[in-house]
Amino acid sequence: AQVWQVGLIGFGCVGQGLYDILQQQPNASFAISRIVVKNPTKERILPAERFEFDVDALLADDSLDVLVEVIDDAEEAFRVVAEALRRGRRVVTANKAMLSRHLPKLVQLQREGRGTLLYEAAVCGSIPVIRTLDAYFGAEPLRRLTGILNGSSNYVLTRMGEQDSEYAPALAEAQAKGFAETDPSLDMGAFDPRSKAVLLAAHAYGTFLQPEQVLNLGIEGISAVDIAFATSQGQKIKVVAGLQRLPDGRVTVLVTPQFVGPESPLYTVDHEFNGVVIEADFAGEQFLRGRGAGGHPTGSAVLADLAALRQGYAYHYPKATAPAPEYASDLEVEIY
Ligand code: HSE
Repeated sequence: AQVWQVGLIGFGCVGQGLYDILQQQPNASFAISRIVVKNPTKERILPAERFEFDVDALLADDSLDVLVEVIDDAEEAFRVVAEALRRGRRVVTANKAMLSRHLPKLVQLQREGRGTLLYEAAVCGSIPVIRTLDAYFGAEPLRRLTGILNGSSNYVLTRMGEQDSEYAPALAEAQAKGFAETDPSLDMGAFDPRSKAVLLAAHAYGTFLQPEQVLNLGIEGISAVDIAFATSQGQKIKVVAGLQRLPDGRVTVLVTPQFVGPESPLYTVDHEFNGVVIEADFAGEQFLRGRGAGGHPTGSAVLADLAALRQGYAYHYPKATAPAPEYASDLEVEIY
């Protein structure tokens, strides 16, 4: 089969992860032909002539089969992805912060028949949770989703439990391993998993929320004493996202530290791993677990999206019955 030409926008942890995976898999049918980055002087693992700096030139290049957006700046990412869709392009993004703010607009652009956007890498790294919700559970009502959606905070909590150590050294480890966001307060304050919960709500319930509509509490205040207490009770402290359909059809979403006992599958999710428990009306309970952060796991999710695009896959948003509004406040959604 013909090799697809990929335009890569951003060369951080995820971009390098994808590059490395494709280097190791020459038969993957994808070749990164152009790479755009922001900083012209930064030292990188590839020779300087591999990089260019004008993203608009890349957007205008019709010889590229697909664009992969993996930059840090959410507003610039939105501009780039929206413009690519307006041009009818296929796009893959991993940018959960951007998507959690702008998904309604990006869905609307696709509904107008412009372009296709996939973003499995934005939620839970290597775990195929978006596609599972979109493709498999699209027709079945979901009662509840619970998940550990942030690898860095889970890593910190796990290490604190293992070593009886304090918060700061464990966070430094998570940063050194490349799990943390550039601004780690997004991980530790549960802002990152809040973005991911917004995306899960869209695919699980067809409910488009703004991040501020989701209550999030982080782990900055949790000490070794708290962890030791949890352990003494046979429990672990985990940052759990909970999405639940209420009997009247409304949906609640929150992300908070909780005690998790051995009766929950999430008890087994340690270090940078993520896990999601899906409770469906007819299928019952299912549990997905995998690596939620790091260059290779997240790059593998981008590769999965590239392969899906080749097969003509586009998200169905099957539970979204109403046209996507510009802002979630247009929707009748109440949060408790
Ligand atoms: N900083 C994120 C995490 C990366 O720790 O889970 C993956 O989205």
